[in-house]
Amino acid sequence: MLVELISTLHLWVFLALLGGVCWACSRPKSTFPIINAYQGDVLGRQSSREYITNAAMLIAEGFAKYHGPFILTIPNAKKTVLPSSLAGWVKSNKDLDHREIVRQDFFAGYPGFEGQTALHSHGDLLIDMIKTNLGQNNSLMPVLNASLADALHTYWGNENTWHAIDWQKDTTGVLARAMSSIFVGSERARDSEWLNIVQGYVGAYFSAVSTLQGYPAWSRPVVQRFLPDANACRQYVARSRTIMKEEKSKRAEKVKMAELEGKTAPQYNDALAWTQMSSNGKLEAGDVQLALGIAAMFTTSELFRQILIDVASHPELMEPLRNEISEQISTNGISVAATQGMVLLDSVMKESQRRSAALGTHGTRRFAKEKYTDFATVVSLERVALKDTTLPDGRLLPRGSHIMVDSTNLWDAALYPRPQEFDGYRFLRKRQEGDKSSQFVQSSPDFNVFGGGRHICPGRFLANNELKLAMAHVLLKYNIRLSKGYESKPVAIGAYQVVDPIAQLEVQRTGDLKQSILS
Ligand code: HEM
Repeated sequence: MLVELISTLHLWVFLALLGGVCWACSRPKSTFPIINAYQGDVLGRQSSREYITNAAMLIAEGFAKYHGPFILTIPNAKKTVLPSSLAGWVKSNKDLDHREIVRQDFFAGYPGFEGQTALHSHGDLLIDMIKTNLGQNNSLMPVLNASLADALHTYWGNENTWHAIDWQKDTTGVLARAMSSIFVGSERARDSEWLNIVQGYVGAYFSAVSTLQGYPAWSRPVVQRFLPDANACRQYVARSRTIMKEEKSKRAEKVKMAELEGKTAPQYNDALAWTQMSSNGKLEAGDVQLALGIAAMFTTSELFRQILIDVASHPELMEPLRNEISEQISTNGISVAATQGMVLLDSVMKESQRRSAALGTHGTRRFAKEKYTDFATVVSLERVALKDTTLPDGRLLPRGSHIMVDSTNLWDAALYPRPQEFDGYRFLRKRQEGDKSSQFVQSSPDFNVFGGGRHICPGRFLANNELKLAMAHVLLKYNIRLSKGYESKPVAIGAYQVVDPIAQLEVQRTGDLKQSILS
């Protein structure tokens, strides 16, 4: 029995190794030099370490050395980094796909990762819903407005003395509740179990993805079955499906009752209702909610935090912003027209986005005294080559290559004078000079923070409306500041970065700052 087991085990180990070798051999052969390849680094530990701690320098070094594309080895994968001059070519090239790279890098299809799988299942169903129903939809504005008022009251309080907020919880919490009100209705958006599921899922999912990326590709399908975070994801998915089934039955029951009583049946204007209508039951409602959470929650909360840090650090902006917000809401009410008219706030948000996307790791090591000192790391427009593709200079990008485009030009003084400075008026001036691409929701050749081309973020209009409304509530109801002497810094992880995760923001409820226009 034991002998049998051991020989079976041998067979499995042999097959796994064979699988690994075949996988490695079938990988497309790179045609570009590798910037973080080191002699004797057989297991790739040094290249991973260098990437995690020093990606900005590697990218700067790569372009300085090779004057064109090169490969950046990240843990268990290789990324071809293209210069920013190729952004337009990448955006318009149909053989370079965004969805496939997301499916591969974020492990769509694994049990528990249904939130990711649903994002791109059934063609464009979900993306079309985001574009048409969640975009510039005036009827959602009062719902968002009411839930923001409610959420800020709950998370930030009404004290008119200065107090610190719980940075992560009280920022994500506010936006999670606002988003949920239009994803699943105001009632469920106040349900703490539901909010914990969505936020818990997003956290566990990204954590599981990041752990899995540390394992060799061939081992991931097995490893993920034993990861605590992946396990938590499976439980969240099950619970989300159950709750959404209950919610749908509850709604159906209310409609039936109204009909029986001869009353007008309630109308539902949220993602749950649109999912039912548009997909005819093809999309699992619980998975769609988690998909929306993955796409919308982290991205928007991160930017919200950066805007709060930037505005708190520039108190001179508060008065002009308050005046603009009051004027727009007084004239246009709580509406898309009002948020469109908030042009200074638009500029502030875009500047926060430019800096949070571009700040990255500053050169403190090898190149500390050289010209790379102020270089920052950022990449955008990640794609996979669906077939062998020829770069404009004639070189081959083999099928299966993963690419990313350098976006350090967000930090280029020729495009953005004094790029290190936060200048809240920077994009307003550009807009006044007639540059239409200087608006928050626009992508342009040198500004691809929402991506670009056919995959450009479909949720950017919602992010725009929600963040402006959130800032309207914050600015008309609170004074905000960073705690004395606190210097906020983002944290870089490889070629990406997160907004300062431990910022100390203090808030004070104000008396009379025209806040009544928000009710
Ligand atoms: C500040 C907030 C946000 C940022 C910075 C952001 C950024 C991005 C980026 C960079 C992409 C990839 C586009 C490309 O490479 O061309 C993307 C795609 C996407 N985003 Fe957003 N996003 C934000 C908010 C949202 C929101 C609120 C939603 C949903 C309600 C959303 C839904 C999506 C979806 C579904 C895709 C995939 C599009 C496709 O595959 O064609 N995003 N986003």
